[in-house]
Amino acid sequence: MKVVYTPQELQKLRKELQGSVGFVPTMGALHSGHLALIERSIKENDHTIVSIFVNPTQFLPGEDFTQYPRRLEADKKICELAGVDVLFLPQKDAIYNKDEILLKAPKVKGYILEGHFRPGHFDGVLQIVNKLFHITSPTRAYFGKKDAQQLYLIQQMVRDFFWNIEIVPCEIVRDPDGLALSSRNLYLNESERQKALLLSQSLKKAAKMIQQGIEDCSIIKKRMQEILEPLEVEYIEIVNREFEPLNMVEIGNTIILVAAYVGKTRLIDNLWI
Ligand code: PAJ
Repeated sequence: MKVVYTPQELQKLRKELQGSVGFVPTMGALHSGHLALIERSIKENDHTIVSIFVNPTQFLPGEDFTQYPRRLEADKKICELAGVDVLFLPQKDAIYNKDEILLKAPKVKGYILEGHFRPGHFDGVLQIVNKLFHITSPTRAYFGKKDAQQLYLIQQMVRDFFWNIEIVPCEIVRDPDGLALSSRNLYLNESERQKALLLSQSLKKAAKMIQQGIEDCSIIKKRMQEILEPLEVEYIEIVNREFEPLNMVEIGNTIILVAAYVGKTRLIDNLWI
């Protein structure tokens, strides 16, 4: 595995790669969710590039940028063992310039749900992913459905900017008890981890109600709200695949999303129906 630290080094190396290139952007503290993306990329491409960069521009003031888990040695081993060809580990100054040109997330879909509670977050996500796409020129890029709105906006960016990149959505990886894997789960103590299960439990309940024929979103959201009562909920929302709010569930075209604080830790989860 080659480890590179600057965009220039990576662009030079990229020119030498023949065939298809899969790209998996991450912020590190890698877990089985990240690994599923990496393994899929390795399976589907001749070469796989993984980036680890805790991107400062997607954190709002007061968020956990400085505390965000950094586990570089373990992450390197995980990538190496998985069979990653190139690991990109840039420093902030290699990526960002002073007073640079900025990308803006779309006014509506970049500022609802996650974007409402973290205004500007997706501006930063699009800024970094756009840069990483330029640096890596991938054939395919892998994103988790865990961050459903991020995935949607990156698909839109690819359309809006005519990127010739295939975006590959990947299923959410969960612990056996249902908790969606997240680097932020490292913040949870034992009792918080137990409480965090309410997120996936509320989604499971929603799925069950839909199976039973209940398709009225307000009824489903109300029941989810009851389950999530012990947590500080930010939103419970039911949207279609275009991120437009739904009154009635549309089978095959629905995403149910939750965001809540467990103690000081903000968690998100969702379910695609
Ligand atoms: P990060 O949170 O490290 O996630 C990297 C990728 O892993 C994202 O596409 C995310 O959706 C996916 N992922 C995380 N947990 C997952 C799980 N349990 N199952 C499946 N996929 C999962 O998302 C980011 O980093 C950043 O915003 C980034 C895109 C790298 C830009 O900085």
